[in-house]
Amino acid sequence: MNYIVTGAAGFIGFHVTQKLLAQGQQVLGIDSINDYYAVSLKQDRLKKLGIQTDKLRYGEIAESGAFKNFQFIQLRIEEKDKLKDAVKGFILKHGPIGRIIHLAAQAGVRYSLQNPDAYISSNISAFLNILELCRSLAVPHLVYASSSSVYGMNARRPFSVHDGADHPVSLYAATKRSNELMAHTYSHLFNIPATGLRFFTVYGPWGRPDMAYYKFSRAIMKGEPIEIYNKGEMFRDFTYIDDIVEGILKASDHIPLPSPLFDPLNPDPSLSSAPYKIYNLGNNHSEKLQFFIETLEGALGKEAIKKYLPMQEGDVPATEADIEDTRQDLDWKPRTGIAEGLKNFAEWFTEYFKTDEL
Ligand SMILES: NC(=O)c1ccc[n+]([C@@H]2O[C@H](COP(=O)([O-])OP(=O)(O)OC[C@H]3O[C@@H](n4cnc5c(N)ncnc54)[C@H](O)[C@@H]3O)[C@@H](O)[C@H]2O)c1
Repeated sequence: MNYIVTGAAGFIGFHVTQKLLAQGQQVLGIDSINDYYAVSLKQDRLKKLGIQTDKLRYGEIAESGAFKNFQFIQLRIEEKDKLKDAVKGFILKHGPIGRIIHLAAQAGVRYSLQNPDAYISSNISAFLNILELCRSLAVPHLVYASSSSVYGMNARRPFSVHDGADHPVSLYAATKRSNELMAHTYSHLFNIPATGLRFFTVYGPWGRPDMAYYKFSRAIMKGEPIEIYNKGEMFRDFTYIDDIVEGILKASDHIPLPSPLFDPLNPDPSLSSAPYKIYNLGNNHSEKLQFFIETLEGALGKEAIKKYLPMQEGDVPATEADIEDTRQDLDWKPRTGIAEGLKNFAEWFTEYFKTDEL
């Protein structure tokens, strides 16, 4: 089948693309390769996918040298006409698009306080273009990334897709919730099957340098202090990348149907009379940050110098996923605990970064 994977140079998109290529699927990867974090890391991921990044020409499709079933285009998804042209070119050669897995976004909760415009552009305007693409090409299924951050002020745990998620505490979360609402509208109006996946703190090899576990690892290896917010009283449902990839691909194979259980007089937020569904993808086990750090120290073989700080604006003290629907509908369950996941991460991290390049 033909897939479009957006955010293919990003952490999750790279892993999803790798898996799809190994399955023999045809993939068009799209990514702007923006500089929110080290461009070199994004380029190295692309190189693993056989893309010669020094030969990339913005807006033009590049062929992978390693995978004949992979093409990549560097493009800002906001550029609607260029996006359409690129996808049309791909379809002429390879046939219709079976799935769009939309993972490109401006990620990060804290950065949304500094640069709100990036979130409206990448997460709202670009998302509209993806929906329009689905509409014009009658794409059989759109799968897109949402986030556990949509639960915001909701303190009822574990976080359930059946509970409301309308009190975001960061603009990032507001854009992700908006994506769910926009997808619902398109799903209802144009009968586009759409599945939103709320990821819970994803970690693993080739991870994101702006995330706490990555920053901690860098500081630990350099002998610098790590900053621990809310004085360590933080709980996170940490989810290993391989589990997330499996969840995304299972969701992609499961095209949602209108739900007969949807009651307009008492609307359940996760159901609809449109072909629309939301799932949590989390480890279903909230770890205390302190324990996560100890496990990371063990995996890296070095102790951290700890600096305790108050809670950060826009953050939530705890996340925990209720994954009952995901289990039932997708037959998905996380398999990787933090000891194994962090060991894999630490092995990659120490190999990728020779200490002097940290
Ligand atoms: N990693 C997590 O813990 C986590 C948790 C919840 C949700 N998510 C969501 O999952 C998705 C993937 O996250 P990730 O961790 O891989 O992030 P990432 O930043 O590594 O990947 C996102 C990629 O999208 C690209 N991109 C950004 N704006 C773009 C645009 N306008 N046009 C084209 N490309 C653009 C970036 O260059 C980047 O390579 C995102 O939607 C993110 O919000 C991630």
